[in-house]
Amino acid sequence: MKKVFLTGAAVLCTVSLLAQPKLTRDNIDDVLAAMTLEEKATLVVGGGWGSMTAGSLTASDASLVSGAAGTTRAIPRLGIPSTVLADGPAGLRINPTRSGTDQTFYCTGFPVGTVLASTWNTALVEELTTAMGEEVKEYGADVLLAPGQNLHRNPLCGRNFEYFSEDPFLTGKMSAAYVRGVQRNGVGVSVKHFAANDQEVNRQANDARMDVRTLRELYLKGFEIAVRESDPWTVMSSYNKLNGTYTQQSFDLLTTILRDEWGFNGIVMTDWGNKEGTVAAVKAGNDLMEPGMQSEIDRIVAAVKDGSLPVADLDRNVRRMLQYIVRTPRFAGYKYSNQPDLAGHAKLVRAATPEGLVLLENNGVLPLKDVKTVALYGTGSYDFIAGGTGSGNVNKAYVRNVAEGLRVNGFAVDADIETWYSQYIAFTKTSLRNNAAGNGLGILLGDPVVPEMEVSRSFIEKKVKATDIAILTLSRNAGEGDDRKAADGDWTLTGAERELLQTLADVYHAAGKKLVVVLNIGGVIETASWKHIPDAILLAWTPGQEGGYAVADVLSGAANPSGKLPMTFPLSYLDIPSSHNFPFNYKGGNSIDMAALLGGGRAPRVLRKDIDYTDYAEGLMVGYRYFTTAGQGVSYPFGYGLSYTSFSYGKPVVKVAKDGTVTASVVVTNTGSVAGKEAVQLYVTAPAGGLDKPACELKAFAKTRELKPGESETVTMTLDPYTLASFNAASSAWETAAGSYKALFGASVADIRASAAFKLAKAQSWPAHAACLPR
Ligand code: BGC
Repeated sequence: MKKVFLTGAAVLCTVSLLAQPKLTRDNIDDVLAAMTLEEKATLVVGGGWGSMTAGSLTASDASLVSGAAGTTRAIPRLGIPSTVLADGPAGLRINPTRSGTDQTFYCTGFPVGTVLASTWNTALVEELTTAMGEEVKEYGADVLLAPGQNLHRNPLCGRNFEYFSEDPFLTGKMSAAYVRGVQRNGVGVSVKHFAANDQEVNRQANDARMDVRTLRELYLKGFEIAVRESDPWTVMSSYNKLNGTYTQQSFDLLTTILRDEWGFNGIVMTDWGNKEGTVAAVKAGNDLMEPGMQSEIDRIVAAVKDGSLPVADLDRNVRRMLQYIVRTPRFAGYKYSNQPDLAGHAKLVRAATPEGLVLLENNGVLPLKDVKTVALYGTGSYDFIAGGTGSGNVNKAYVRNVAEGLRVNGFAVDADIETWYSQYIAFTKTSLRNNAAGNGLGILLGDPVVPEMEVSRSFIEKKVKATDIAILTLSRNAGEGDDRKAADGDWTLTGAERELLQTLADVYHAAGKKLVVVLNIGGVIETASWKHIPDAILLAWTPGQEGGYAVADVLSGAANPSGKLPMTFPLSYLDIPSSHNFPFNYKGGNSIDMAALLGGGRAPRVLRKDIDYTDYAEGLMVGYRYFTTAGQGVSYPFGYGLSYTSFSYGKPVVKVAKDGTVTASVVVTNTGSVAGKEAVQLYVTAPAGGLDKPACELKAFAKTRELKPGESETVTMTLDPYTLASFNAASSAWETAAGSYKALFGASVADIRASAAFKLAKAQSWPAHAACLPR
């Protein structure tokens, strides 16, 4: 009897092994049916930490890409390959060198997300990310872990440079353009971090608490636009909790809203951290655990066996994984070259970057005239910061600094000053690096910024005679794992910076010469107390590897800047409503005390405000929504930026179609003397009655082509009634009120050049779900 049973089992076993379909685009159901439980669990868990470092490649992924952040696991018997996931967002992040070869694998350092948003040019963003996607494909990756599109809720979030804006509409449009560009190459993206991951302090456990209207209209809106308009292959759920539930484990977020309401049909992966709630994550619709651990596979297998995880849930996720895999270049056996067009991309980036630089002040000194020799001060002039630190830091072959940029634009840079700074930077960097390594902070935080050195007045007085102008670059950096501080050297200038700025201004002005400040910063800093001192301020951001060239192209007038701010520069940090509910100069960074958090088996301790949880008490009052509604002054308003030319706006025309679609157009004319582009912003003020709204909200924007002096362009923007809707928490529905709206055509939110009223005859509403509600 025993023998008969064993023979039967052997036959069954053979049958199932014989049922070994090899994955094709058309047999996903057959492959799913042929998978064992262990194989299913394997497919939804990534290849593990360090799976991409050269030393730890396994046979199945030996051909994969060194330095990529993660993989999916191969199941060779079913023809399922590993696929490769690599960071973004400012380009592809992989290891630039590999053992056993002299070949290098550098990637282009593209402008960071904030610079892309500052262009207000979605076509340009798409062109740049099309190039970025070519590098993803030619270096053998399948998915770029980008774009990052959390909101700039507070200017001190350490990763704001990766993100686009304080405004969800601008964010969503930029993200959609980014995604379309990358995916045009037949590779995927992972739109991240979904959602409400707006601080770095305790990012792995912080609970973002907010009312559902704020969630829908601000923190989800950009993702909604991106999903609806660009069909991203993947979405990355964030580390944090949202209204009490880890986003990774939120069915409401990952299924009800993302898939059922928005129609997302790709896969969701976790951000790079293992949480014990693997089974809850699978149920919620999180299809892939990254970076992936054996314990997660074990949990899934055990939960199916004990009935706590319905196999149908697992099958649903596995099916989506298979649908993802058949889209990838790796599945198609694409023979990547490892030789993307780096030279072509460098040219493209250099030409595009000036569009993202924002000219904040200019009393006529720019573009530079009659300047031969420049006194170039500031560590950032020589040690230019191309992008932030952490996983968003691209391994690029070089970074062009301002000195190099000035030289290729035909200027001389004072040699003594350059030598002095170079020596100081080399010395200080070495000791800073050693310190950072000693602290164990090196990897996450990347290279520290070299603090400004003290320069004596007598030296400056000597140099003023030998030079025609002074340029001072002020630098800041930030990145993954910690938030910035409302302190000198970060939000505010250091004593050394202030003194240098003032002395340069005094000495150069006394000699009838000028001072220009270049801001090489990843996020907003305090400007109100010193912006009157220099003759011009160029906000260069951290604009990628060609940064120094782009800065000098603008200073020289070879390029006309047309960037505008995607966020507000306030007068003071405490003017920002979220400053009352944001980690205040907390020193713990990313580190979390899980044992303490969970009570270590003891009674749970008191949760710490802004660390264990953050109340988004300001609701919709983020950025310009607050400043315009409260009538509170700012240093530089949202949407602001100067040009070397000027533009006039004609009388606008606004028409409403029967279905409520609004078409708004305005003639923009270049009234100055050089060619330039203008970013036109359409803000809308809603009728009184209905839901309370901010004073105005950005609902459309457009950038003109380059207009020659005297040339005009009719800029036309359309917006559908859904774009005008607000979320009614009481009815869980999006609602657009009937009545009289105002269309405001702005050069910034504070510089409205033309306006027109339009009427919507009937109210409209779109049902949604009561999801992600506050507890
Ligand atoms: C970051 C993600 C990144 C991932 C992989 C995480 O720590 O939050 O943005 O894509 O690591 O490197």
